[in-house]
Formats: sequence, C-alpha cells, structure tokens
Amino acid sequence: MAIDKELNEYLAKTSRSRALHEEATAVMPGGNSRTTTFFDPYPFYVQRGQGAYVWDADGVARLDFNGNYTSLILGHAPPDVVKAAQEAAALGMSFPGPTEQEIRLAEILTRRIPSLQTMRFTNSGTEATMNAVRAARAFTGRPKIAKFEGAYHGTHDWVMVSVSPDPRAAGGRRHPKPVAWSAGLPPTVLKHTVVLPWNDAEACTQIIEKEAANLAAVLVDPLLGIGGILPPADGFLEQLRAVTEQHGIVLIFDEVISLRIAWGGAQERFGIRPDLTTLGKIVGGGLPVGAFGGRADIMAAYDPRRGGARISHGGTFNANPLTMAAGAATLNALTPEAYTRLDALGERLRGGVTRLLMATRRRGQVTGVGSLFCLHWTSAPLTDYRSSRPKDPEAPTRVFLGLLNEGILLTQRGLGACSLAMTDEDIDRFINALARVLARE
Ligand SMILES: Cc1ncc(COP(=O)(O)O)c(C=O)c1O
Repeated sequence: MAIDKELNEYLAKTSRSRALHEEATAVMPGGNSRTTTFFDPYPFYVQRGQGAYVWDADGVARLDFNGNYTSLILGHAPPDVVKAAQEAAALGMSFPGPTEQEIRLAEILTRRIPSLQTMRFTNSGTEATMNAVRAARAFTGRPKIAKFEGAYHGTHDWVMVSVSPDPRAAGGRRHPKPVAWSAGLPPTVLKHTVVLPWNDAEACTQIIEKEAANLAAVLVDPLLGIGGILPPADGFLEQLRAVTEQHGIVLIFDEVISLRIAWGGAQERFGIRPDLTTLGKIVGGGLPVGAFGGRADIMAAYDPRRGGARISHGGTFNANPLTMAAGAATLNALTPEAYTRLDALGERLRGGVTRLLMATRRRGQVTGVGSLFCLHWTSAPLTDYRSSRPKDPEAPTRVFLGLLNEGILLTQRGLGACSLAMTDEDIDRFINALARVLARE
C-alpha cells in the first residue's frame, strides 16, 4: 500500500487525536514537548496503558512494542510498581533532602553492575551522559570526547553530534566528520567531538591513538541502540577497552537502553568493564530517571565532603522518592528467570520476522539482542550506521503507519522491545500484522 493509503486509514481512526493536536499547537510549537514522539501529520494521544497495551484518545487499543522507547520492561502499570509509587507518593512527592529509597536503589544497581563502585541519580539519561562526560573531563583534564556515528546519547550539546548525518556531508566511512545534529550548538562542540565508525576496530584505534593526548572519554552505547541495535562485532568492545586503558581515556558505557538485555547489562553480557556507566529508562520503573557511576576515583569529584565537590550536581528532583521506589520494585521483578523469558520473546520475534522476510523475498532484516529488536529495510550486511540506512527512505514510516493501523505500536525507525507483559501469542500477532502490512505494499 502506498504511504498515503496508510495515512488515510490512520486519519480515519484518530479524529479525537487530531482535535487534541490542533488544540496543542496553539500552546506548544508543533503541539508537544518531545521531538522523538512526533510524526506527521500528528501523533495519537495516549489515554492509558495496561499490561502490553495502550489505548488512544479514540479508544483504539494497540499492542505496545515501543514501551516508552524501551523503558517499560514489565509493561504498563504493573501492580507492584504502581503500589510502590503510590505508597511513596502518600508520604510526600519530593523533599529537600535524601531519602532511604535512594540508598536502596543504588544498592540494587551496584550489586547488579560490579563496575558501579559508586553512583548518583539524575532525572534523565541526558543528564546522566552529560555528567559522565563532565566527570571524564574533570578526571583527565583533557577537553575532547569521542562518540560513534549514529549513536544517540540524549539532548545536551556534547552529544548532539553525528546522530543521523547524511553520509554525503559526513566525510569518509572510516574517518567520519563531526556533523551538528541540532541548530544552536556552539562551534566549540564540533571542535571537541571526535566521531568514530561503529564496528571498525582498526579505524577506531587509529583515530583514538591520534587524539589520545586530548581525549577525555570514549562514549559508547554497546548496542548502538537508537542507531538500529547493531551488536558489536567480536572483539570490538575489547579493543576499545584496551586502547582507552592504554591511553588513560575514560571508557563510558551508555547503558540507558542496553541495561535491559541482562541482569548486569551489556557489560555483563559482553564481558567488558567500563570506567563509567550511564543508566536510565528501566531503572525508574516508568518515572523520569537517569543515573551514572563507576570508578570511585572518578566519581570522587562529586563528593561534597572535605572542602566541597569539584563537580556541582544539583537537581531539584534528583533521586526523587517516587522514582526510587518504582525503580526498586521494577528491578526486584527482574529475576534471572525474567531475563530468560525476555530473551525467548525476543528470539521468537526475530525468528518469525526473519522467516517472513525470507518467505516473501523482502529486502529487509531484523537485528537485536535479548528483548530488543530493530527492523531494517536493506539487505546490505549490517555493520554500522551507514550500512543500516534504508535503501527506500520512506520504508520505515510506511511500516510504522501500517503497523499502527494493524493495532501495533513500534518506534518510527523500527526499534522495538518485548515486555514481560507479553505472551507468545502477542509476538505471533506482531509477525502476522507485519505480514499483512508488507502484503499491502
Ligand atoms: C543510549 C541512550 N542514551 C541516552 C538517552 C537519553 O535518555 P533520556 O531520554 O532519558 O534523556 C537515550 C534515550 O533514548 C538513549 O537511548
């Protein structure tokens, strides 16, 4: 089906959302507060979520593989998490002082992730990566940071570089140029950001060695999550660890998404110990959250005792008790058996989609690890950001809208996550819906 037919069906099903969007545009540019969730002509308004489903303002239910961009690992409104948040709320919404809940969640996380010797909480993954980068600069006294082409780490200036550049403006594949991903970045950001090619260990080593004297940190999402869930090639992360260690560069794992693939995150699954780690999404149980931590000697810059912290880290809502309680309730539900189940759901989905694409001879692939997956509309070998760009740029939107019309919610670029609220039948429903969307094309 052509994209306009999918669009017409979407418009016909979402009249209440359209009316709300029109009201919203009077008071917000584009009608909302979150670039990521907007799509043309307007996003549907969510009314509620329960288990594996969300309902929109027109009463349409959709099976939710977006899960607030991979945050809702237990599904919507899990009773134990809702109860924990309600009990915390009844005692007061936030305070000008620490609470015991903060210690308990930090204990859970530092037990799960041995590289987190000490840690602190923020309100978002963006603040977590901002602080990790700052801590690395403070520790090394060096000005530059390196990040990967195609990697997303939030919306502070230092990481809004080469997130989804047009390759024609981004230099050679093995020596990518920094490209601003937003208006309003000061030129110094581009001068101080080194861009690396994902999964090319040799090129990365050369670039890192050349920049080493000025490089404070290498920031890496070990799955290149928003870039399409492109797992690291064998030995790639090991090489990053070796070269950063050799040159005293702080290796930061951004596990805002990848924590969900194992008890101790991607660092456990791939057997690498970073110097710093950033967290977000699942660790707040659905409430606003971020966290960062790692080597105690680096994190010591935040210690306010004995003369004051070298890095000031305020935040009116940092470690707020509702988030801490909901986060602990969520992590307590994530037992080793839960990860086995999440892996099985992900395997079932990837296997089913792969068989579907082969049977229908479609130009497409599905990548993923554990409960995460991403649809790609190219048959090129998938190694890095550039290889994952769709041959037909409209394909992801067409499939996204087609799935919406089938009652399935994914992210616009094709990234999805299974939750523990899902059954095998839900996974099969996804595969059958995708088959119908592709058959309409
Ligand atoms: C890897 C990664 N880092 C950081 C962030 C930013 O997190 P937040 O949206 O909570 O600011 C995201 C968000 O999707 C992410 O995927």
